[in-house]
Amino acid sequence: MTYSRIAGTGGYLPEKVLTNKDLEKIVDTSDQWIRERTGILRRHIAAAGETTCDLAEQASRRAIEAAGRQPGEIDLIVVATTTPDQVFPSTACLLQSRLDIHGCAAFDVQAVCTGFVYAMGVADNSIKAGSARCALVVGAETFSRLLNWKDRTTCVLFGDGAGAVVLEASDEPGILSTHLHADGDYASLLQVPHGVSQGYDAMQENAAFVEMRGNEVFKMAVNTLGRIVDETLEKNNLRKSDIDWLIPHQANIRIINATARKLRMSLDHVVVTVQDHGNTSAASVPLAFDAAVREGRIKRGETLLMEAFGGGFTWGSVLAKY
Ligand code: COA
Repeated sequence: MTYSRIAGTGGYLPEKVLTNKDLEKIVDTSDQWIRERTGILRRHIAAAGETTCDLAEQASRRAIEAAGRQPGEIDLIVVATTTPDQVFPSTACLLQSRLDIHGCAAFDVQAVCTGFVYAMGVADNSIKAGSARCALVVGAETFSRLLNWKDRTTCVLFGDGAGAVVLEASDEPGILSTHLHADGDYASLLQVPHGVSQGYDAMQENAAFVEMRGNEVFKMAVNTLGRIVDETLEKNNLRKSDIDWLIPHQANIRIINATARKLRMSLDHVVVTVQDHGNTSAASVPLAFDAAVREGRIKRGETLLMEAFGGGFTWGSVLAKY
């Protein structure tokens, strides 16, 4: 049996930092409100002209280096993004060209904040099925481009960034299981209600923004993430105490705390980067993962539970032995 294992991780954040104090000058908000309701202190924002593929490229190069691989060894590229550079080609194809990789399958996955977890599920299954042996899995977003900077209920929450993982074929797991779910009935609670097929005019200013019913999303996220934790543990016959690290989607410290409580995990075994990154959508889990690996907190052999929840609604988890 062939499994996939995590060979290396990488992350990249754009240079510009936007603090809560900076936001006080843009909308009617306060550092205190944002801190208390979300845990966010600052977020990174892509420079004018800096695209999702630019961020993805930096994160990917770092992940490939950490894996001790050469770009030419990559035989599958999956990019999770909600903010592609172009309608087409996919950001994965643009990234493939940047990395001077030729011929392997490359495509985008769109599951908003759950995108990276979806991409890991797809790549893990490709490796298990024998159709790939070395996959580059990326979550990358310039989510700031979808924000209405006049809407204080959304613009304070999000940021830009990219994270990447190299998965390679292995005789030992690796990825223990992936769990992917969606329910499109909840589309209207968290959405950008414009798109190509509706005749969206991309040149029109302020045309497509995130809209969210925050309170309802919050409750659904807490309940759903609790359920996905149970599902993942049951499938693997594990107890809560078997998990060494929770790597949650970084949307709101209160949602993260609720999931940690459910797992009875102390917060020093939960990777938390929301204070520095805000919600970077598909980039949030791999950025948090990479930060903890590079700080030397997550060690080889430890059991990791990644989970995410996002627009769609979509939700899912990855259980892995690092
Ligand atoms: N600054 C100051 N006040 C704000 C504000 C801001 N940035 N945004 C909203 N408010 C106000 C509201 O207008 C409301 O005022 P009112 O009581 O006078 O009407 C008050 O704060 C409370 O708003 P509410 O929406 O009930 O706050 P909340 O405790 O639910 O927190 C969120 C709001 C968005 C932080 C929270 O609902 C949340 O995190 N939701 C989930 C978001 C998420 O994770 N989305 C992505 C999922 S992938």
